[in-house]
Amino acid sequence: SDHVAIAIDGPAASGKSTLARQLAAKLDLIMVNSGEMYRAVTWKVLQDGIDPKDAEAVIAALVEMDIECSVAEGRSVVRLDGRRTGDELRSEAVNGSVSAVAAIPEVRNRLVEMQRGFLEFGNVIMEGRDIGTVVFPDTPFKIYLDADAGVRAGRRVAVGEVDSVEDRDREDSRRKTAPLQVAAGAAILDTSGHTIESGTEAALELLREQG
Ligand code: C5P
Repeated sequence: SDHVAIAIDGPAASGKSTLARQLAAKLDLIMVNSGEMYRAVTWKVLQDGIDPKDAEAVIAALVEMDIECSVAEGRSVVRLDGRRTGDELRSEAVNGSVSAVAAIPEVRNRLVEMQRGFLEFGNVIMEGRDIGTVVFPDTPFKIYLDADAGVRAGRRVAVGEVDSVEDRDREDSRRKTAPLQVAAGAAILDTSGHTIESGTEAALELLREQG
């Protein structure tokens, strides 16, 4: 398709979702949260009583899993067994297990294919860990977001998520398949000193330079 993808990657609490929402509104893009897809698989695995560290069992469950993605009101929606997912994907149980599930190559293969499929619906802005490196390596529009540890810690507290985040970042950065890293051609944007508005302006400027 001739649709365009903007890739936003970075660690937890770096401001990806906030920036993606702002840019999606300004540029009329479909906002896709790839983390929700990894969270949905993890939630289902836990629901079925499967050990998320047992890769073979997770893969067996994945084969049977009825997971679907679509677009509603300009953003991605994930369905499990036909039902729309919601806040349950943000539970501490999911936070604590999602990195193990996301490290399994078979899980990533299935979800990456679904993620690429969003381009059929229109121009997208997709946030995650491997969007610029793996999902859309050929897009010229890539931003790697970061923020200093103190700022990120404050944001985690604000969303009620403290303990698991550092472990997740470490696991997401060290895994063999599609680790979190700065993509070739990505512009690095540190949001520490930015407000939402100034960070969005800075990102727009970087995207203009990349186009
Ligand atoms: O973005 P969010 O923090 O909700 O993502 C949850 C988890 O999903 C991450 O910690 C990571 O393990 C996994 N993830 C991933 N690749 C992506 C997006 C998320 O591995 N593109």
